Amino acid sequence: MLQMTSRQSFQSLRILLLLLSCAGSDKFWHTCMVGPSLADDCRGSNGARDSSIPMDFHQSIFGHVKSKESCAHTVNDWERRPYSFSIIDFGAVGDGTTLNTHAFERAMLSLSNYADKGGAELYIPAGRWLTGSIRLISHLTLFLESGATILGSEDFNDYPLIPGLPSYGRGRELPGSRYSSLINGDGLEDVIITGNNGTIDGQGAVWWSSFRSKTLEHTRGHLLELIEAQDILISNLTFQNSPFWTIHPVYSKNVVVKRVTILNPLNSPNTDGIDPDSSQYVCIEDCYISVGDDAISIKSGWDQYGTGFGMPSKYIRIQRVVAFSHTSAGISFGSEMSGGISDIEVDDMVITNSRWGVRFKTSVGRGAYIRNVTVNNIVMHTVRTAIAVMGNYGEHPDENWNRTAYPVIENILVGNIVGENITQAGLLLGLPDAPFHDIHLTKVVLDTRTTKQGPWNCSWVTGFYNFVLPKPCPELTMENSNG
Ligand SMILES: *[C@@H]1O[C@H](CO)[C@@H](O)[C@H](O)[C@H]1NC(C)=O
Ligand SMILES: *[C@@H]1O[C@H](CO)[C@@H](O)[C@H](O)[C@H]1NC(C)=O
Ligand SMILES: *[C@@H]1O[C@H](CO)[C@@H](O)[C@H](O)[C@H]1NC(C)=O
Ligand SMILES: *[C@@H]1O[C@H](CO)[C@@H](O)[C@H](O)[C@H]1NC(C)=O
Ligand SMILES: *[C@@H]1O[C@H](CO)[C@@H](O)[C@H](O)[C@H]1NC(C)=O
Ligand SMILES: *[C@@H]1O[C@H](CO)[C@@H](O)[C@H](O)[C@H]1NC(C)=O
Repeated sequence: MLQMTSRQSFQSLRILLLLLSCAGSDKFWHTCMVGPSLADDCRGSNGARDSSIPMDFHQSIFGHVKSKESCAHTVNDWERRPYSFSIIDFGAVGDGTTLNTHAFERAMLSLSNYADKGGAELYIPAGRWLTGSIRLISHLTLFLESGATILGSEDFNDYPLIPGLPSYGRGRELPGSRYSSLINGDGLEDVIITGNNGTIDGQGAVWWSSFRSKTLEHTRGHLLELIEAQDILISNLTFQNSPFWTIHPVYSKNVVVKRVTILNPLNSPNTDGIDPDSSQYVCIEDCYISVGDDAISIKSGWDQYGTGFGMPSKYIRIQRVVAFSHTSAGISFGSEMSGGISDIEVDDMVITNSRWGVRFKTSVGRGAYIRNVTVNNIVMHTVRTAIAVMGNYGEHPDENWNRTAYPVIENILVGNIVGENITQAGLLLGLPDAPFHDIHLTKVVLDTRTTKQGPWNCSWVTGFYNFVLPKPCPELTMENSNG
């Protein structure tokens, strides 16, 4: 079995799928895989363009999947606030051209009077509400009605400069300060950002072109950034055209991101979808993410600043997410991970038209660890490299990074992965001075027909495998599946 050609392995992919579905343990496989072809069932009619995939695609796939239990139990029930005000009450005009920054400021000031009375809702009716940065308050529900769009101003002056995060030591792109995010908050608790699928649109094109022409003076802001927040729900909204990473909870806990659609052009620079950063108890579920960089990336600070700050990302669950990342990964860990990353569970993702499927990325200088991560039940289609664990990322905040701060990567389980039209099965490149340990692959079947190089490329890594096709590199040891 282990000497099969990849054509034969592809046949056995079908057999594996039948076996898995017959086992009846997992309707996901049944629904998604045992059709005439993965392409028909899980990809849409024309996989080459994200726009061909219907937006309710993830619901049709994930309506009956295994992980149907929500991970959103960390935040209390989202009852309506006892008080509600419309942004119109504060003088806003939803014509797409009037700048409403001051109206939002007045609203926040006024609604802060209800903090000890159960909080208040700021209702955004249908319309196009142009604004600069909005600084949220605690005990707030921001509700965007169907047809409501909060539009980010295209004038950089509408985004006040703020200091770089301490765990990065500077702006991520450029030294020094950075632009504030369109929607932002510092030290918030009990905030709900939701609606009837209203839209938050960063109008990022001006930022992307400034980035490309190297005329940016400071690091770009995010579409939504919450620093030191707790008890946060972000749901039922569309986020689009983010200047930089889209949703960035940092130093936060109890954060739920649910039923969110993120649409950034596939070629827009560094427009990650959701980046939990030095945050704990994060739940991301039922999301559709099509972006210009990693769809989801778990981070925890950068080199000596991240180790100095020392705040890990842990207890994070991600489930039922559809991801497109033409230039990067469906789900990634790092490369900034210097506060440590552990206890992460990822389940039921579809990753398609992506450069990487599941990617762990780090570098000498990062220090810290990525450990105790489980990535399970992933369907991939048209992904260049399905599984990557790499220690050669590079990129440092300054010259003072520690040349002997080796990151530890260990106890990583990647299982129940099926991939069609995969170019390279895996790239597992540890560090000679700090090999990666306990990389565990189980039930991984990848159709790598198109590749000319070997399907796996490994160095400085140890681990185990069990039922993996094509056969992994000799660095991994076959494990008896009877145990
Ligand atoms: C939400 O709106 C986006 C476009 O703004 C649309 O593509 C998507 O299908 C909508 N989602 C739901 C659940 O209605
Ligand atoms: C989000 O939408 C779902 C489905 O329509 C609904 O059940 C849920 O209550 C909504 N959540 C919020 C916070 O409005
Ligand atoms: C990783 O898991 C092992 C056992 O499963 C546990 O002993 C260890 O404390 C965990 N490490 C972290 C960093 O959570
Ligand atoms: C297979 O992947 C290649 C890129 O590696 C892509 O050009 C091609 O369209 C894909 N084929 C199908 C049938 O999706
Ligand atoms: C560099 O990292 C190593 C390994 O973590 C540590 O022992 C050493 O103290 C660090 N050096 C400095 C200057 O921080
Ligand atoms: C493995 O990958 C490394 C890094 O991309 C590359 O330099 C090397 O040539 C590859 N080895 C093989 C045998 O393809």
